Amino acid sequence: MRKKIVAGNWKMNKSFEEGLALASEIVNFYKDEVHSDVEAVLIPPFIHLVSVGRLLDHPHVQLGAQNCHQEVSGAYTGEVSAAMLSSAGAQYVILGHSERRQYFGEEEGLLAKKIRTALAAGLKPIYCVGETKEEREDNRHFDVIESQVEGALSVFSAEELKTLVIAYEPVWAIGTGLTASPEQAQEVHAFIRNLLEKRFGASFSQLVPILYGGSVNPTNAAELFSKRDIDGGLVGGASLKSRDFINIIQSFV
Ligand code: 13P
Repeated sequence: MRKKIVAGNWKMNKSFEEGLALASEIVNFYKDEVHSDVEAVLIPPFIHLVSVGRLLDHPHVQLGAQNCHQEVSGAYTGEVSAAMLSSAGAQYVILGHSERRQYFGEEEGLLAKKIRTALAAGLKPIYCVGETKEEREDNRHFDVIESQVEGALSVFSAEELKTLVIAYEPVWAIGTGLTASPEQAQEVHAFIRNLLEKRFGASFSQLVPILYGGSVNPTNAAELFSKRDIDGGLVGGASLKSRDFINIIQSFV
């Protein structure tokens, strides 16, 4: 049985007070209404991590960060290390989000280093992959995803990656209101699981949670989550409203 995860990536949103209010609403809703073992992961901006983390007094509500630096420590002004995130209470870290790839030039070689540093600090990486609109229109999406998966993960052993989570986020579906159809998402998730099986073996591939991200909302979540290889969601916009986020979690049957 794979873990079911719904992670809320707040991106660069919410003031300190707004972030605390959102986190406590989610925890309260979770306590009152969620009777499954779906794991919620709140992923606020760095500066809110410690304070949000202190509010998360439910075993199934966890804390994550949106990025980390690839080096362990040192003279990297303005950066945040994996060990700092871990000591601040984060369990997860998103790496390779398409916005980091697009706006900060992050690519697989760098991301492999970040994954290694995150793992060494005891963080569970949520490694994001996904094709652009042009790549899908040119029918290159499988090649792109294969090179993103292989390019960052092939330097690791299955043992090293036992806490890995993958998120498939088609760039054309992020923040656009366009969601991949459940069939399109399932097709790519099965493809990713097959890549993992070829490289790391069947038992490993069956254990890795693969989340879908891209305009997930309370209306489309149930059908996406009903697919065999979709183990949850990485949610942007809809994670900024406690009611929507909880309704997405409740979409798991
Ligand atoms: P939206 O849910 O706003 O499309 O964002 C998805 C995403 O990028 C989560 O990491």
